[in-house]
Parts: sequence; structure tokens; C-alpha cells
Amino acid sequence: MPLRFLLNGETVELTDPPPTLTLLDWLREARGLTGTKEGCNEGDCGACTVMVTDARGTRPLNACILFLPQLHGAAVRTVEGLAGPDGTLHPVQEALIEHHGSQCGFCTPGIAVALAAAHRNGEADHDTALSGNLCRCTGYAPIVRAAEAAAAQPGPGWLADTLPDAPRFLWPEISSGVAIGGAIGPSDGGAGGGQPPGAFRPADADELATWYEEHPDATLVAGATDVGLWVTKGLQDLGQVAFLNGCADLQKIEITDTEIRLGAGVTIAELMTLMQSHHPHFAVMLARFGSPQVRAAATVGGNIANGSPVGDTPPALIALGATLHLRKGETHRSLALEEFFLDYGKQDRTPGEFVEAVSIPRQPDALRCYKLSKRRDQDISAVCGCFSIAVEDGTIRSARIAFGGMAGIPKRAAAVEAALAGQPFAEDTLIAARDAMAEDFQPLSDMRASAGYRLATAQNMLMRLWHARSGAASDIGEVAP
Ligand SMILES: Cc1cc2nc3c(=O)[nH]c(=O)nc-3n(C[C@H](O)[C@H](O)[C@H](O)COP(=O)(O)OP(=O)(O)OC[C@H]3O[C@@H](n4cnc5c(N)ncnc54)[C@H](O)[C@@H]3O)c2cc1C
Ligand code: FES
Ligand code: FES
Repeated sequence: MPLRFLLNGETVELTDPPPTLTLLDWLREARGLTGTKEGCNEGDCGACTVMVTDARGTRPLNACILFLPQLHGAAVRTVEGLAGPDGTLHPVQEALIEHHGSQCGFCTPGIAVALAAAHRNGEADHDTALSGNLCRCTGYAPIVRAAEAAAAQPGPGWLADTLPDAPRFLWPEISSGVAIGGAIGPSDGGAGGGQPPGAFRPADADELATWYEEHPDATLVAGATDVGLWVTKGLQDLGQVAFLNGCADLQKIEITDTEIRLGAGVTIAELMTLMQSHHPHFAVMLARFGSPQVRAAATVGGNIANGSPVGDTPPALIALGATLHLRKGETHRSLALEEFFLDYGKQDRTPGEFVEAVSIPRQPDALRCYKLSKRRDQDISAVCGCFSIAVEDGTIRSARIAFGGMAGIPKRAAAVEAALAGQPFAEDTLIAARDAMAEDFQPLSDMRASAGYRLATAQNMLMRLWHARSGAASDIGEVAP
């Protein structure tokens, strides 16, 4: 089966494209659609923003770190496809002109598409919608005024293909697995019969499990917000690749009386929405994970499996007592999430084994998450501290605390937890426990922060928690709205 997607309302069929060809390169070089710009080529600037609609809804995505096979069954709109067939501009395009929202114009296509996606979804928080789009010359005030003006206008009828079910309706067979670039589907029995390395887009976790067990050296690609950079910046040849975003069963969120189970393919944007009603402070922290474009692509499974010491979801999930679920072939196993991270760059995962899900126990909310980075938006944490401290009748019943950025792996603060458990919840207790942080962590100095700064800020986060729970304003948004 060829790869199929809609591009600006028209069907595209591609047989065996290079699996790691990015949408940006293909649009500009193969289709001559140069409205989508290349700024950074690493997901940071938003100049390449396109609007992608599939069964999960309409999302802004960065085309520079989006591989063609990830688009199978989706509808893509570039800036060239925002205006109607008779040339009528999209309301955000009209408003950008009216409100002088463009000067040199380099960022403008990406901004127009990001705003059109937000408009399509009825999002009223324009600052957030624009936080993944860098404008170097206009200044954001006219752009925000344009977004406000466009919000009052109805969505244009010619974007009907941005209905989530449109591609599935066109191509009912779209939910089957697809082999790209050679016979490496689940039944080829191995190396692909001498074909050059190709790719497989399994339709579900069972197909993935069979294929990955046969191709344990392959690279798994979920949202490609890490892997994309290995290609665009690292110039790596990934060899055989499996694209996970066709596995709808890995994208499920299951909530029972006792747990919340997140499939590995749940995006950060979906997790953020979910956490608003379970652990709101986790959602507040996730609003600073990358940008809307990054959150819409990045997955929970990728954020865990990459083993990064500065990933933002592991500290919060560990503080919530998460269990990780792994699968290899027909074998499933589960372990406490913190046990997955063995050492810098080393995780408890065998070849052919993948992350299936992560689950957290249902619990009364006591989670506070503090992310410290040089910029508010679109920045990796220097330190990320997550605290789940349950207090009963003035006594600390339990404390689970985990940090990113304080060691080579996401790590629990065991000595601090021990210093808190069973003690009165009082400022003196936290001041005493704060000193135990040096037993738990000997952080490194790097370009994001020095070791001393990291330790001091981690200790301060514990005190910030005390002040926040005592009712003091402790967030920059509260202190300087
Ligand atoms: C501009 C930008 C900003 C960013 N900001 C942040 C930020 O604020 N906070 C943060 O934590 N991260 C950030 N990141 C990093 C990245 O977005 C996250 O690590 C993300 O969660 C990775 O998920 P993914 O689905 O894109 O993974 P991918 O890039 O697809 O994969 C990442 C790794 O995980 C493996 N993998 C993926 N899924 C599975 C699975 N199910 N089982 C086994 N292995 C798997 C892949 O093989 C690869 O090794 C940012 C990245 C960019 C480009
Ligand atoms: S070119 Fe900068 S985000 Fe894609
Ligand atoms: S208008 Fe020049 S970068 Fe935005």
C-alpha cells in the first residue's frame, strides 16, 4: 500500500519514499511549496509549522522534524492551502495584514498556520498558541491583536478536510500496517531479503511487537521530536525504522477507580489536558514543555524511553508512584518507573522491547511541579523538581520527591523523603530536610546551570512548596501577572 495523505485538500500517494525524508524537505524540494520556511530545522522556531488533522484532531506540527510516514492517513495544510480556492484569505491571514502583524515576513507563514490551527480548535490563549513561533522583527503585540480579531470570525468552509474523520472516510484501509522501502513487514522473517533498510508502520501493538522482536536493532519513532534531530542535525542514517503513530491502541488513556493508564503514544498535549482534572500542577508544568507544536507530537513513551536526565514527565510520574509497562513479543513486564533509569544513557530495556504504557495510582492530588529553565517557554529544564507530599492531621504521611537535572538520570530524593516522612508539616521540618538534598544529589555543571546553582535551587523548591501550601504567591504568574 502506498503512503497516502491529503495535502491542501488533494490526495498524495507515495510509494516507498525515503523513510526519514522530512515533510519540510519534501514540500520545498519535491513539491515546490516554499511557503513553509526552514529556520532552525530542529523544532525550535515554528517557521515550518503545518496544520495536520487525523483521528486525534487538528494540530500544529513542525514539518522540519516530521517524517513522511508519520502522515499516513492524515490531512496536511500548508500556508499555501490556508486561503480558499477563489483566493479568499483565511481570517487569520486577513487579520495579520489588517493589524500589521508582519515585517520581513520570514516567520509569517508559520505564524499564520499556527494561528489557523488554534482558530480551528477555538483556542483563546493566543500567547500559548504563539509560544512555538519565533518572530525576530515585528514584535508580538500586533500578531496577538491579529489573533484576537480573527477569533471572532467563523472558520472557513474550505478547510472541511480538517474534520478528523475525513481521511479515514476516504480510505477505510488506512488503519492497516504499511511497509515502506522494501519487504520488511511483519511476515518477511527478518532482514528484508537483501533490500535496503526500510520502514514499517505497524497498525497496532501486536504488529509492532512481532516486527520489533524480529528487528531488534531498528529505531522506533514515536513523535520524532528527539529522533527528528538525529537526522536533521546529527545527519544519522537510522537504518530500519518503525513508526509508532499508527498504533491507535498505544494512544489510549484508561481510567479506572484505582489507576490511570497512559499508552506510550499519548502525546504531551493529551497528557496536559488529562492532568488538568487530576493533578493540575503537573498540567501547569507541562504547559512549559516545548511548544504547542512539540507537545502535539511528543509522546509520553518517547519522553521516558529516551532516558534523558532532563525529561519533564519522569520526575512527575515518579513522584506519583508510576509503574512502567514494557513488552517484547508476547512477554509483558512491569517495574517502578524509577527502576527503569539505570545510569546515564542506560535503561532497563532489552533489544526488541518497547514501552507499552505507564500507569499511575489514583490518589488525592498533592503534586507540585517546579520547572526551572533559562526561558519560560520552549526550553529544556535545568532542574525539574516534583513533590508529592501527603499530609494528614498536620503530619507528613508520605513523601515522594523526584528530580530531573540533578543526576545522570531522573532520580528520587530518598534522603529528603526519609527526613520528611512522619514529621510535622512545618517550616522547620522542611528546612531540616532541605539539607538532606546534598546526600541525594551531587549534580553536574553544564551549559544550563552550575552544580551549586542546581543544588541551591532544588533546596529552594522544597521551601517554595512550603510557601505555596501556606497560601503565599510563589509562581511568576502570581507574583507578576
Ligand atoms: C524544540 C523542542 C523542545 C523540547 N522541549 C522539551 C521539554 O520542554 N521537556 C522535555 O522533557 N523534552 C523536550 N523536548 C524533547 C522531546 O520533545 C521529548 O523527549 C519527547 O517526549 C520525545 O518524545 P517523541 O515521541 O517525540 O520521541 P521520539 O523522538 O520519537 O523518540 C525518542 C526516543 O524514544 C524511543 N521511543 C519512542 N517511543 C518508544 C516506545 N514506545 N518504546 C521504546 N522506545 C521508544 C525512540 O526510539 C527514541 O530513542 C523538546 C524537543 C524539541 C525538539
Ligand atoms: S524550521 Fe524551525 S521549527 Fe522547523
Ligand atoms: S516578521 Fe520578520 S521574523 Fe517575524
